[in-house]
Amino acid sequence: MSVAILISGRGSNLRALVEAGLPIAAVISNQASAAGLAYARARQLSTAVVAHTAYPSRDAFDDALAAEIDRFRPRLVALAGFMRILTPAFVRRYEGRLLNIHPSLLPAFPGLHTHARALGAGVKVHGATVHFVTPELDHGPIVIQAAVPVRPGDDEDALAARVLAQEHRIYPQAVRWFLDDRLVHEAGRVRVAEPGARQLLFADA
Ligand code: GRF
Repeated sequence: MSVAILISGRGSNLRALVEAGLPIAAVISNQASAAGLAYARARQLSTAVVAHTAYPSRDAFDDALAAEIDRFRPRLVALAGFMRILTPAFVRRYEGRLLNIHPSLLPAFPGLHTHARALGAGVKVHGATVHFVTPELDHGPIVIQAAVPVRPGDDEDALAARVLAQEHRIYPQAVRWFLDDRLVHEAGRVRVAEPGARQLLFADA
């Protein structure tokens, strides 16, 4: 009934998941120096490092990563700032139980530097998305989104902070729905089987 969380860095989404009281099987990082790992250790969570630099290919890394994940027998694998592109074989192995959080309103702005690109595009609304992972980067059925305004005078940091606060709301919600078996896949879309469930949050803060 638990979650393996994959991180590469800061780990603020990891922290939000832990603080929401969700059952965490393990925190796994490809970066030994990830701040999120230190946090996880301090919380007495199981941790592991699978350094991508130690493997000759993506396939070899993903095999090692999967072996480490499977050791903890998680129900769900949650990518939380995990900065590696995963092979189709890895994605297939965890199909239907692999979630990601992305800092944009997908399908707008897949990939990196989402906040700078949103500012550059002049969009008036931005946000974050939790979605199931499919082999195509930052695609896959959307579970929940949070929208925030882009304000005149915003710089990248201000906008990132506004979005991040919402990430910390929607990721725990998505994971809880998953663990409670509330997520229903219908024709490539995800519905929540729970009265009053809101798959879109607006934050005007
Ligand atoms: C978040 O913005 C997340 O959406 C993106 O990477 C960032 C990770 O931040 N995928 P943190 O490590 O959770 O603080």
